[in-house]
Amino acid sequence: MTRVTKDNWVIGNWKSNPSSLTQAKNLASEIKAVDFDTNHGQVMVMPTNLHLTSIIDAMKDTAILVGCQDVSFTSDSVGAYTGDCSAEQMQAIGAKWTLVGHSERRTYHQESDKQLIAKIENAFKNNMGVVLCIGETLTEYEKGQTLNVLHKQLAILKEINKLKNHAKKLIIAYEPVWAIGTGKVPQVTEVEKVHQNIDDYLLTVHDSLIQTPILYGGSVNADNVEAFAQSNCIDGVLVGGASLVADKFASLAKTFFATKK
Ligand code: PGA
Repeated sequence: MTRVTKDNWVIGNWKSNPSSLTQAKNLASEIKAVDFDTNHGQVMVMPTNLHLTSIIDAMKDTAILVGCQDVSFTSDSVGAYTGDCSAEQMQAIGAKWTLVGHSERRTYHQESDKQLIAKIENAFKNNMGVVLCIGETLTEYEKGQTLNVLHKQLAILKEINKLKNHAKKLIIAYEPVWAIGTGKVPQVTEVEKVHQNIDDYLLTVHDSLIQTPILYGGSVNADNVEAFAQSNCIDGVLVGGASLVADKFASLAKTFFATKK
């Protein structure tokens, strides 16, 4: 089946970086000064919650979107949930998108499918977009279980209320856990096969997901990004480490979009 053309994305996940607000603001102003050629794709940065309002403010009047890295599982917009920020609160300060299910949250916070479903629904209810992160561990990869693991992680989409109404606000980020922050990347041909399989799986969930972009993440940098961009099955990249240095992020994003032109 011919793959439909999907939107292209370059997303910087700043994780729990940098160490000060001043550094975060400097990073934002350096990124803001870059001409990204956003006619060919969308750039988004995702700072830590602590820096979110300042970075949203820094990026206003630019084409760069700002999102957050998580929202609370609770559907209450306020309440006794220590340490949580609700989707309503995130939306109210101007966060347009959120990551859900990043492997670091699945690992360090033992996020369950039930919680992930609630987070996605809360984000959608508040008109936020969701970047759902999925990926297999090294052991699962070595045992050839990648597709089974991904199908299980994607199956939660079947539980989302009125998913089709929010189809345009969904992105899938395929991030093999063993590639995150390790400098190891799978072959582009392997990623392509996985993305094609994700495409097929999404259509079994709902045909409105035909245009859902599928991003690759895990040790993407300015040197290896072109190879990923050359694949028609890779609609974008989710970048951690290389998004923290403005010139590296700029060169990576420009190469991605220029290759997609
Ligand atoms: P990395 O992180 O680019 O540092 O490997 C990617 C991610 O975790 O989203």
